Amino acid sequence: MVADPNPQPKPARRRMIKILLGGGLLGSFASFIYPVLRYLVPPLVADLGGDQVIAGKTDELRPNTAKIFRFGSRPGLLIRNSDGSYRALSATCTHLGCIVQYRGDLQEIWCACHNGLYDLNGRNVSGPPPRPLEVYEVHLRGDDVVVSRKREA
Ligand code: FES
Repeated sequence: MVADPNPQPKPARRRMIKILLGGGLLGSFASFIYPVLRYLVPPLVADLGGDQVIAGKTDELRPNTAKIFRFGSRPGLLIRNSDGSYRALSATCTHLGCIVQYRGDLQEIWCACHNGLYDLNGRNVSGPPPRPLEVYEVHLRGDDVVVSRKREA
């Protein structure tokens, strides 16, 4: 008995190879298209207009913690105080523009770039920052924490 020099794959094997190749091509296509779609479709941001934004939900932060939120094109810092109240400030350091963070252990706002320190009212208390942080108003609307710019008096 002589073996066939060009054995033909069985139809089931051929179908399986087609499925695997098709799946690979589909996966490759999706990995190219997904970033493009994410770029073209802006993320859902609860922007309520130029001067207001929903910075978070009331059940999102434990007391003495904070989060960064997006306020227009700039970052903001939403702090939940130890007593459960909220405060919000600009998160852009007034020295060279690094993003500040809340230090729960100090109950102060700290810039890691050059060890700048602000108090909870945004006043620059030590380090190189030359000016205070901008302070925003915080309102609770249902379970939303709404942050807005302070109106000029
Ligand atoms: S950028 Fe914040 S202290 Fe220098």
